[in-house]
Amino acid sequence: MNLSALSKARAGYRPKLPQSLRKGALNVQVEKGEATQSIKDQAKIQEVFPHTYGAPIVRFNEGKSAEPKALTVGVVLSGGQAPGGHNVIAGIFDGVKSIHSGSKVFGFKGGPSGLEECNYLEITSEIIDQYRNTGGFDIIGSGRTKLESTEQFDRCAEVVVKEQIDAIVIIGGDDSNTNAAVLAEYFKAKNVPCSVVGAPKTIDGDLKNKYVETSFGFDTAAKTFAELVGNIQRDANSAKKYWHFIKLMGRSASHIGLEVALQTQPNICLISEEVEAKGQKLNDVVHYMADIVAARMQDGKKFGVALIPEGLVEFMPDIKALIDELNDSMAHYEKELNAIEEMTDKVSKVCTLISIDSATVLKSLPVGIQAQLLLDRDPHGNVQVSLIETEKLLIEMVGKELKSRGKSGFKALNHFFGYEGRCAIPSNFDADYCYGLGFSAAILVKSGLTGYMSSISNLTQGIDNWKAGGIPTTMLMNMERRHGEDKAVIQKALVELDGGPFQFFVSKREEWAKTESYTYPGAIQYFGPAEVADQATKTLELEHQ
Ligand code: FBP
Repeated sequence: MNLSALSKARAGYRPKLPQSLRKGALNVQVEKGEATQSIKDQAKIQEVFPHTYGAPIVRFNEGKSAEPKALTVGVVLSGGQAPGGHNVIAGIFDGVKSIHSGSKVFGFKGGPSGLEECNYLEITSEIIDQYRNTGGFDIIGSGRTKLESTEQFDRCAEVVVKEQIDAIVIIGGDDSNTNAAVLAEYFKAKNVPCSVVGAPKTIDGDLKNKYVETSFGFDTAAKTFAELVGNIQRDANSAKKYWHFIKLMGRSASHIGLEVALQTQPNICLISEEVEAKGQKLNDVVHYMADIVAARMQDGKKFGVALIPEGLVEFMPDIKALIDELNDSMAHYEKELNAIEEMTDKVSKVCTLISIDSATVLKSLPVGIQAQLLLDRDPHGNVQVSLIETEKLLIEMVGKELKSRGKSGFKALNHFFGYEGRCAIPSNFDADYCYGLGFSAAILVKSGLTGYMSSISNLTQGIDNWKAGGIPTTMLMNMERRHGEDKAVIQKALVELDGGPFQFFVSKREEWAKTESYTYPGAIQYFGPAEVADQATKTLELEHQ
């Protein structure tokens, strides 16, 4: 592999571990707390997880642990890439090797399907050393196959028994960790001698709660996008001729958009959760943006920067109703619709299958957006919001609105930042956090715990005060309606409108709209003083003030 100077320097970076793990996994004592409850719907969740429900939270303290034992651990990377995944695997690898030098780590290739198909690579120190502190999931690849059927679980059971695997660690988001918990329950019910442990991954930041302070990758991705947005703001403020409409990845939740706004102070940042709470339709959002653009024009400023969360379309009631109806019709009439080649014909056909109101909304949208709304859903049944060009839609509609108000001179450029940040070299925060999550997963495995998520908390207090342990995954669950059925799932964390980060943003946004209060975060710093290189996100700071 050809290495850049930075990659060579990063290869030598030793991620910092929480205090209690620094003497190795054999010098950790596992302290178990009280029995736990799920956040909601306790009786129903217990019914779904009779063998794993109610387990205690565990904390890791310095101390002596039981005898060393060689372990074989399988690792799966699930879903979208997030900076730091390689360090989770490095943490697991170093953790199990510190328990016994004969331990092995198998990396299942291409996501959960690799486990089902018994397609793995044994990770050796030569292999892992090439990936320490690097971005991406290319060590074994990732995938979005859902592990949820009994047939799939049976195939996984055959694989772990045949390969004598003591534990599977699934590194994924809320859906993947939900499925990991279901697999843990299934193995326990069937006496399959293999535990299943998860690690909280996603740049979207929507896998968090009282016990999991953040998902890994959010820090690096948000900082990467903030660098790019800051650079665009500097350009806008220099040339003073364009508006920049920037869509930011993050799926349904607006955590990424909000964090980037807190880091860069743009003129506009839409927050999907607020749009939903206020019941703002597409036209209301267009008017809100047009008002700000027009007010700046009034002050002689024909430029600015607007941030748009990726999932916005799903939060505007008129578009949401349309998407819900489209999901149903596309599932019901899949064959018929797939047989229609011309997009205009497909749209006409769809309009006969949905309500008149939704058909009117669909017809009012530009042809390109109509086509994007009719694209295939992902394996979890979600609209692929990363493929819907909301930023272009808003430019077109804001432009029309301004024209109707007699305002000329609105020139706007569109951008979409997502894939630019998902595989960035992990920040020190993510490099340390991920390594600690992996190392903790190794200790959970060694302790024979199953149905747990590895956890590091106290993240804003400096690494010497970080606390390592594990959370029973059922604790994070509630019942939700999915594909017409009630399912036990980890509750997705959307932006809380009464929370610190959003409230801070609200207190500033009018000023940011009118002025150029822009801040320019610059590139992530990997070396240097802690206040520059090791800082956590503004979201974490404001949530834990
Ligand atoms: P996860 O939820 O699996 O972490 O995915 C994150 C994400 O980057 C979303 O922000 C985005 O909408 C989606 O993946 C894009 O998916 P794909 O990689 O399949 O294009």
